[in-house]
Amino acid sequence: MSTIVSMQNTSDRRTDAGKLDVDRIRQDFPILRQQVNGKPLVYLDNAATTQKPAAVIEAIRRYYESTNANVHRGVHRLSVEATDAYERARATVQRFIGAARAEEIIFVRSATEAVNLVAHSFGRSRITAGDEIIISAMEHHSNIVPWQILCEQTGAQLRVVPINDDGEFLFDEYKKLLGPRTKMVAVVHLSNALGTINPVRRIIETAHRHNVPVLIDGAQAASHLKLDVRQLDCDFYALSGHKLYGPTGIGALYGKYDLLDRMGPYQGGGDMIRSVSFEKTTYNDLPFKFEAGTPNIAGAIGLGAAIEYVERIGLDLIAEHEADLLNHATQSVLQIPEVRLIGRARQRASVLSFVIEGIHPHDVGTILDQEGIAVRTGHHCAQPVMQRFGVPATARASVGMYNTKAEIDALAAGIRKVIEVFA
Ligand SMILES: Cc1ncc(COP(=O)(O)O)c(C=O)c1O
Repeated sequence: MSTIVSMQNTSDRRTDAGKLDVDRIRQDFPILRQQVNGKPLVYLDNAATTQKPAAVIEAIRRYYESTNANVHRGVHRLSVEATDAYERARATVQRFIGAARAEEIIFVRSATEAVNLVAHSFGRSRITAGDEIIISAMEHHSNIVPWQILCEQTGAQLRVVPINDDGEFLFDEYKKLLGPRTKMVAVVHLSNALGTINPVRRIIETAHRHNVPVLIDGAQAASHLKLDVRQLDCDFYALSGHKLYGPTGIGALYGKYDLLDRMGPYQGGGDMIRSVSFEKTTYNDLPFKFEAGTPNIAGAIGLGAAIEYVERIGLDLIAEHEADLLNHATQSVLQIPEVRLIGRARQRASVLSFVIEGIHPHDVGTILDQEGIAVRTGHHCAQPVMQRFGVPATARASVGMYNTKAEIDALAAGIRKVIEVFA
């Protein structure tokens, strides 16, 4: 496929001025060519899920057409090739996030499952009545509810770091909450509801001074921020494939080897065992101990292809482009007096969350859809954030590498139209 061949060359994704060549990038995403309601699709729902480049679609198609077999069990050729491709994808994730060893990468269904794995497995062995788990007030439900379930089961308590009116993590409050009872800190890297980038390095450093491990929810961050888990020194990092230009149904958990090694299994079944008898079962080595049953082989290969695609373009260049877009979007929307931004942190990426006075966000989303513009409306699986800002829901535009300034202008024009309709 010519699109894929052309992706071997990174220089053709830069303009002469050294910027991201968005027109070229857009050619790699077949879905963006379509019209919605008679208008060119303006896809600004990247925080919910990103679109997939041809390189990812092609990698999955190629896998099913030429390699499909179960992994880790067969001696026949296809099984060996499928296993190699699956393990290569693991090595790609390892390289992308800067992990020391491939065994530290556990393939899971989603970022949600990554957090659940840690809450269940780490939590069950380490957390007891009277212990405390610290999260922040800007977490996605998937980094709240697993810890609440753990608290219900163990008698531990959840402590919540508050945020200020701009949607920023209150570091001094965090320091006050950390204490001898704290057994885990779990914080989002980049908030899906506010766009806030948290000072995760400092959060981790501070927790470590109390010997407390830290899980970072990187579901949003991985496609917008360059990542190095060793430099961050996080203990766990949760990743989502479908928000990183990869397929749905695949994600990854990074965990430090020694921690993962000491944790009990998450689910029981095939592949996660070394030997089984009715008297005693012993468990497999990392990472297989946490991958019970047939994994999402095609999904992992698709995720590997997505990461390679992102790497070829370069996250630095993507981040620079997205920062320009977010800045442009913020300036444009702030000129509309009826609009109130929810989330104005100094460090922000991708997400523009807003409400329009007197108009329900669902109506905003419906009218924008008539203009071919896809944004998300609702609580964004972050109901405590909505409560904090006293709104039932927001409209959220979120940019990815393929969005353009013209699309941001279309959004601003769409918002003005919504206001006219409801005037
Ligand atoms: C910050 C954050 N954490 C976790 C999740 C859950 O990710 P997944 O869809 O991979 O389960 C999301 C999804 O929107 C998110 O935005």
